[in-house]
Amino acid sequence: MGRIFRGFAAAAASSVAAVVVRDLFQHKHALLRNFPLIGHGRYLIEAVGPELRQYIVAANNEERPFTRDQRRWVYASAKKENNYFGFGTDNDMEYTPGYPIIKHRTFPRAVPRSAPRAAREVDLPCAKVIGAAHGRPSAFRPKSVVNMSAMSFGSLSGNAIEALNRGAALSDCLHNTGEGGISRYHRHGGELIFQIGTAYFGCRDADGRFNLDKLKDVVAGAPVRALEIKLSQGAKPSLGGLLPAPKVSAEIAAARGVPEGRDCVSPTRHAEFSDTDSLLDWVELLAAETGLPVGIKSAVGDLDFWHELTDLMQETGRGVDFVTIDGGEGGTGAAPLIFTDTVSLPFQLGFAQVYRIFAERGLHEQVAFIGGGKLGLPDNAVVGFALGCDMINVAREAMLAIGCIQAQKCHTDTCPTGVATQNTWLARGLVPKDKAVRVANYIKTMRRDLVKVAEACGVEHPGLISTESVDILDGRTASTPLYEVYGYKPGMGLPSAADREEIVRLMTVAEPQGTSAPPSPSAAD
Ligand SMILES: Cc1cc2nc3c(=O)[nH]c(=O)nc-3n(C[C@H](O)[C@H](O)[C@H](O)COP(=O)(O)O)c2cc1C
Ligand code: SF4
Repeated sequence: MGRIFRGFAAAAASSVAAVVVRDLFQHKHALLRNFPLIGHGRYLIEAVGPELRQYIVAANNEERPFTRDQRRWVYASAKKENNYFGFGTDNDMEYTPGYPIIKHRTFPRAVPRSAPRAAREVDLPCAKVIGAAHGRPSAFRPKSVVNMSAMSFGSLSGNAIEALNRGAALSDCLHNTGEGGISRYHRHGGELIFQIGTAYFGCRDADGRFNLDKLKDVVAGAPVRALEIKLSQGAKPSLGGLLPAPKVSAEIAAARGVPEGRDCVSPTRHAEFSDTDSLLDWVELLAAETGLPVGIKSAVGDLDFWHELTDLMQETGRGVDFVTIDGGEGGTGAAPLIFTDTVSLPFQLGFAQVYRIFAERGLHEQVAFIGGGKLGLPDNAVVGFALGCDMINVAREAMLAIGCIQAQKCHTDTCPTGVATQNTWLARGLVPKDKAVRVANYIKTMRRDLVKVAEACGVEHPGLISTESVDILDGRTASTPLYEVYGYKPGMGLPSAADREEIVRLMTVAEPQGTSAPPSPSAAD
């Protein structure tokens, strides 16, 4: 009897050991690489979670920032699994004020592609050439309207940055460096937007002052397509940042140009300009010295800055090439609750106010508008495009695609999936080459859905979806057109006539249009 029991125990122990070894060395699941064996518990709970939650805890649309349905859509898209939903919507659309409805057309100009998988690999370039209006030597048309938002090496692990950069290369989108400079993890083929924050990481001298020569060197040594001056971010405007000493590894120190193992502080304000006029001078200086388009990233609060900026652009001809508007609902590695919850307007409200200020001065066609703040979901993105976005940025949705489970521990350095941590053991769980494919799949699915919705609205490209194609529900019995909600005049929200013509040409040359069944003999007569 004892021998049999010992035999069983030995067999069980060796099975457990085999599972542990397999978990440790498999590449698909970061959680299992980091938490062999016990990580399976999460998958078990995830598998039965919807059923349990349905009766006990939360519904599919209750969790935040991203609901279960939204996360399931991102995960399934990233794995190229079935991302459809059965039975019909479980959103409470009839009773949710502010719910957007996209208005399809019955006989649209653009004929939708018919096969479900059509447009999976669609090319979806930006409808504007960034920097063209100001004659920048390196003006360019971004190849993708969906791009990766700023997240620094420091807030994310090196492996996460590498996965995003490789994913950017696979999906032909741009990868914003965030304000932490360029590291070796950024050099895997993805083209970059170099972000310049208040600490001038990656382009500063030993005393922390901005250094133009360093900027030119860093830009020349990497595939940088544009510069983005960070004024603020939706989740924490007017706040600086601190990367605590234990996180400042040799690699982070090298990318940022700061001493290793010491607290790394980002001030709240820039030292190179002190008002809107000197900001514009600096924009022109950077553009002249590097040849690159130069933009700004900002959250929206008080509107004085935007009035002043557009007045000066109109009067002097100086100007930013792109404006990235980040919504107050946007993400961060770490911030005080009052800032994440209450400071700065949510995306739609903030964006519409800023866009209108540009449009009222006739400047909206010269500047590319980029939106951020949970826009990595097709419904939110479509409203963004209708309001005048030329491109959208995705941050947390890209994190989900590379394995983030919304544990919301990014500020503790204990991220269980290796995404937002500098802990080498946890980061090891995230295998960049595998996750790169996932994030690329997710970006491509976003583009496909955007094209399909654009075609349903009768146009060839999401940038051509107008405010007339979206209504905002006021409840069960009334709706208001988007242009009325945000006070848009006719034509606002669209690129110039020339840009519209060119993007239609690019879309129809590159992609076959949809078809119907052959006409019956009587219809053909
Ligand atoms: C972990 C993390 C790090 C971030 N780091 C930066 C940064 O360095 N610079 C910046 O401008 N925004 C930063 N952001 C904000 C994002 O770029 C983005 O604007 C915001 O999260 C909204 O996009 P989302 O809703 O798709 O996440 C960060 C966000 C997260 C989640
Ligand atoms: S800590 Fe949680 S929310 Fe943050 S990246 Fe990791 S899994 Fe995602």
